[in-house]
Amino acid sequence: MLSKVITISQQKGGTGKTTLTVNLALAFIKYHNLKVAIIDTDPQGSLGKWFMIRAEKKISNNNLTFKTASLWGAQYESKILKKDHDIVIIDTPPKIESDARPSIEAADLVLIPVSASHVDFWATGAIADIAKQANKKILIQINRSNLRSKLINKTNDFIKNLKLSSTKTIIANRQIYNSSMGEGKTAVEKQKKGKAIEEIKKLSEQILSELK
Ligand SMILES: Nc1ncnc2c1ncn2[C@@H]1O[C@H](COP(=O)(O)OP(=O)(O)O)[C@@H](O)[C@H]1O
Ligand SMILES: [Mg+2]
Repeated sequence: MLSKVITISQQKGGTGKTTLTVNLALAFIKYHNLKVAIIDTDPQGSLGKWFMIRAEKKISNNNLTFKTASLWGAQYESKILKKDHDIVIIDTPPKIESDARPSIEAADLVLIPVSASHVDFWATGAIADIAKQANKKILIQINRSNLRSKLINKTNDFIKNLKLSSTKTIIANRQIYNSSMGEGKTAVEKQKKGKAIEEIKKLSEQILSELK
């Protein structure tokens, strides 16, 4: 068992925390044959809704466990889950700031999604500070980006200014991420080949090497 915890956190809503949670979870299962648990700590429960749709459609996967917890509870829950899972992913709500601490303390890696937008930049400092204080490995994930946008350079400058690193894979803005969620699926399950699969697979490989 690898027994590692990834917390996906970002003050701003809609940056792709839940989307990254499910796509990474299925990538770890599909491409690396790992056992994965996902924990929904967002009272909005989008991750839970996604999982319920899967359950209703009988899209079963023995290597995927779903739990809900409060931000505090996630610390306890992840400790238990990592005993018999390779990876535990904690999906968090927006607007958490000081409440984020327990879920960040539980993490071996804190993944912070941002899109190439100043509004996302402004929201990123608080979580990054909490993760730095807790001495955690932090990676910024550029998500939902137009790969040709000039804002990508600005995003890289912003990440450098925060003295942080980003993953080597930018996740583009792709319809498949959006449409698959509503079906209780992931891009990784909907497509056999394609750009979304390539980028999520590459990202899952880098994250695993960071965790080992
Ligand atoms: N890479 C992407 N490409 C296209 N749409 C995306 C992408 N990532 C997220 N989305 C969409 O953006 C919206 C917000 O994503 P979500 O994962 O729910 O964010 P969060 O959990 O951070 O609030 C959803 O409609 C989702 O389908
Ligand atoms: Mg969410």
